[in-house]
Amino acid sequence: MSTNKIALVTGGSRGLGKNMALSLAQKGIDVILTYHTQQAEANAVVAEIEKTGQKAASLQLNAGDVKSFNAFFGQLKNVLQETFATDHFDFLINNAGTALYGAFAETTEEQFDAALNIHYKGVFFLSQKALPFINDGGRIINISSGLARMTYPGSSAYGSMKGAIEVLSRYMALELGPRRIAVNVVAPGAIETDFGGGRVRDNKEINAQIASRTALGRVGLPDDIGGVVAFLCTDEARWINAQRIEVSGGQGL
Ligand SMILES: NC(=O)c1ccc[n+]([C@@H]2O[C@H](COP(=O)([O-])OP(=O)(O)OC[C@H]3O[C@@H](n4cnc5c(N)ncnc54)[C@H](OP(=O)(O)O)[C@@H]3O)[C@@H](O)[C@H]2O)c1
Repeated sequence: MSTNKIALVTGGSRGLGKNMALSLAQKGIDVILTYHTQQAEANAVVAEIEKTGQKAASLQLNAGDVKSFNAFFGQLKNVLQETFATDHFDFLINNAGTALYGAFAETTEEQFDAALNIHYKGVFFLSQKALPFINDGGRIINISSGLARMTYPGSSAYGSMKGAIEVLSRYMALELGPRRIAVNVVAPGAIETDFGGGRVRDNKEINAQIASRTALGRVGLPDDIGGVVAFLCTDEARWINAQRIEVSGGQGL
């Protein structure tokens, strides 16, 4: 049996999820990360984690396709047994996601449904189906967004879906309490990743505009986020439950 704790990070091939995976490994936690299409990037993260001495594996997941989840958990079961010599893991990080920018007046039903499947329905049912695999005393961390609190034009669908997982997280915390599973939300501000075509990182105007609305005077970097998620998986964070932790440098105050 594996003696290390194990985290499952969705969308761990790039951006924030990659940083979370590496930060968890730095804390002595083994990691299973998922990717959607970028298998080579996922394998590179696995190799980087293995260099630190932790165990790691990657699995393909479409976080917006609930019907594929039973097959996913079948594969997860095999990976847990083959790579980690166990049937359970400890920490679920619901991070995978894609951007949706569009005016309220123009967002189509197709765009709305695609985002809803990934950002809300997928989080609901992936967490539900993960329950038999999560050890009692484990943790679930749902990744929301600063946009669930503050408003920017063009984020009505995305921001409100992130708001939905914040409410869901409190209900999950209540109902999973008897199993001592804590559920928290980490809500990043705007961070320089590939998200949304990399616009926060690559569009100088957007970058400067967000920096000017941020108390600490810059946009966020992936490294600002992963360590907070990893901390929430430590023993020191054991009494933090049902909380929304915004990690935005004080954006949009
Ligand atoms: N960046 C920001 O400014 C920001 C701010 C607040 C919140 N967030 C949230 O943080 C999370 C991560 O964002 P990020 O900035 O790291 O984005 P990113 O750099 O674009 O990375 C997205 C990750 O999610 C995976 N993914 C995308 N679509 C998927 C799907 N349908 N099924 C499964 N996995 C999928 C990608 O896998 P592949 O590599 O295989 O494509 C990748 O690992 C998202 O939930 C996002 O809403 C981001």
